[in-house]
Amino acid sequence: VKVLVTDPMDAAALARLRSAGHELVEHRGVQGAELAAALAGCQALLVRGATKVTAEVLRLAPDLRVVVRAGTGLDNVDLDAARARDVAVHNTPAANAISVAELVFGLLIALERHLVPASADLKRGHWEKTRYQGRDLAGRTLGLLGFGRIGREVAVRARAFAMTVRAADPLLPAWPPEFGWVQRGDIETLLPEVDVLSLHLPLTPATRGLIGARELARMRPDAVVVNCARGGVVDEEALLRALRSGALRGAALDVFAVEPPGPHPLLELPNVIATPHLGASTADAQARAGLEAADILIDTLARITA
Ligand code: 3PG
Repeated sequence: VKVLVTDPMDAAALARLRSAGHELVEHRGVQGAELAAALAGCQALLVRGATKVTAEVLRLAPDLRVVVRAGTGLDNVDLDAARARDVAVHNTPAANAISVAELVFGLLIALERHLVPASADLKRGHWEKTRYQGRDLAGRTLGLLGFGRIGREVAVRARAFAMTVRAADPLLPAWPPEFGWVQRGDIETLLPEVDVLSLHLPLTPATRGLIGARELARMRPDAVVVNCARGGVVDEEALLRALRSGALRGAALDVFAVEPPGPHPLLELPNVIATPHLGASTADAQARAGLEAADILIDTLARITA
């Protein structure tokens, strides 16, 4: 079967698909009509988050039967349109949870210890030891919005840093029994009580703009926000205002409402540290996500073509 691959993908995953007898068509970075044209004759599409599988693309790609997203977020796939067209959609939600959780702490410690400007200064010959006094994580309260796979991996690591962990997840049907040590709350009670708010929710119509001016105003002025989920979950204008006015001390952002964000005003603030959506960008996460995606594709295509 012909499989179109449009995002960077682990080489072992592509090799596994080829050895299962599938023909890979690789077109990096195509979108819209170009993506639909590249899908001609392809029954399967293998993507990460950059490729936008819109209703229009699905409409223009009649041969397509399955989309596999190597990674977690499915906000780049129009799930309703796929369902209506009977195109199967799968992701690999477990593959990069640890990698995202590790980045949360990388960003948080970088923010709290001023690692980025301190390193840049030293490389320019300035030994700024007193200027960059930071803060410990130990003893601070971490609030997790979203307590799925990634939120739980973050909680486990926060415990090792001697943080108090609170979490809110309106979508969780039952609290996982092994996380009895995490204080369960709702978003309203969580916001005023945390030193660090870390977001671990998918971007859906219900979560878009969930953290807006009202929510930011309820947080402590010396709190910080970490967003390794999706940019759209936070109202970036409100975040900008809160950071500029001192209503919020800092933010660590791996994701943006529009990616790449271009010359965004958030990127100009000294109390913002930012990375280009690197949550799943480790060799380990990509190997796991790629191989899992390849196996899902092989299974699904075997069923579809049987
Ligand atoms: C995910 O949803 O899996 C992460 O945000 C990573 O996305 P990416 O595969 O597009 O880097």
